[in-house]
Amino acid sequence: MQKIKTVLTAFGFSAALLVTAPVFADGHLEKAIEARKAVMSLYSFNLGQLGAMAKGNVAYDAAAASAAAGNLAALAALDQGALWPKGSDAAAMPDKTRAKAEIWSTYPEVNGKSKALAEASVAMAKVAGDGLPALQAAIGDVGKTCGGCHKPFRVPK
Ligand code: HEC
Repeated sequence: MQKIKTVLTAFGFSAALLVTAPVFADGHLEKAIEARKAVMSLYSFNLGQLGAMAKGNVAYDAAAASAAAGNLAALAALDQGALWPKGSDAAAMPDKTRAKAEIWSTYPEVNGKSKALAEASVAMAKVAGDGLPALQAAIGDVGKTCGGCHKPFRVPK
């Protein structure tokens, strides 16, 4: 019984790999890259709205500020494990991504950078609706965490 199970499992596994691995591998990495760029765009969109208010380019609006800051905090809390598969770095796929291979070679350092964003965005979400000065006081720390990860882990343009 045990033997049969082992044989079946081994066969099923290798057959599945043979058929699906080559197709799956490429598409999978590219999809993950697209998805993580989409998360970054959402970071950028929400932070951009807040930045426009903080700089006085757009009138401060407590509800809009709260919504954008809450969105950013929610996005920063996503589990992104599946968006950063091994092999999806800029050395391996230079036309597709700017993610430095150091993300993986120094892992888990990058997690500290994610955590810094998550903490700063939660702090900002708590006060973003409390008036323009409160937003202005909190947004700088969030912006620093974006650059704090891009500098070591993103290939410059
Ligand atoms: C934990 C690391 C990390 C943090 C924190 C981070 N980023 Fe990124 N970001 C990256 C990496 C790595 C890339 C390159 C991704 C790629 O090309 O696959 C990137 C790419 C981007 C891009 C380009 C997306 C595209 O379409 O190519 C934008 C815009 C961006 N980040 C904005 C932000 C903003 C705004 C913040 C802060 C609110 C932020 N990021 C926080 C690591 C981070």
